[in-house]
Amino acid sequence: GAEVAALVASRVVDVPDFPKPGILFKDLMPLFADGPVFREVIDGIVAHYGAGSFDVVAGVEARGFVLAAAIAYATGKGVVPIRKAGKLPRDTFAASYALEYGEATLEVHRDAFIAGHRVLVVDDVLATGGTAGAALDLVEQAGGTVAGFTVVMELGFLEGRARLSPRTVHALLTV
Ligand code: PRP
Ligand code: MG
Repeated sequence: GAEVAALVASRVVDVPDFPKPGILFKDLMPLFADGPVFREVIDGIVAHYGAGSFDVVAGVEARGFVLAAAIAYATGKGVVPIRKAGKLPRDTFAASYALEYGEATLEVHRDAFIAGHRVLVVDDVLATGGTAGAALDLVEQAGGTVAGFTVVMELGFLEGRARLSPRTVHALLTV
């Protein structure tokens, strides 16, 4: 809990004015590049939920993919991509959202989930919650049940958690 949070806090890299002036970008990739740190992050997420609480893991493109695959492998589950518009080859559901910077659309394959399967949705950062809200809507549209939404870092001041309410959010670190 607190140890993983401190580790994340000490290793996140702040990048001013990316991708636009005025945005302080939180780069978590340096954490993922460090083997022991990455393992702590994945183990922390798995310990929070327990492998018995979900059937499949959905990762949000692009940085959520890194986490989702590792969580899925560690727990013997499968991994499903929630992608930016236009990337998936078969019939999709789509959900648009306003990002902290700009607007975007996410998609998931219509047949991505077995009906009623419990889906753990994963991303690296929760900021305004637009991405997460769209991702969770897509899971439900595609017949999955949201088992949880988890991020490594939550930017509390952007109030994404409130926006997602009554859905719950797990964050290893909230800043
Ligand atoms: C970043 C981040 C989250 C999202 C959070 O992704 O990885 O997915 O923004 O912002 P929000 O809570 O305000 O929606 P981005 O859209 O930059 O794309 P990427 O992961 O493909 O780099
Ligand atoms: Mg992202």
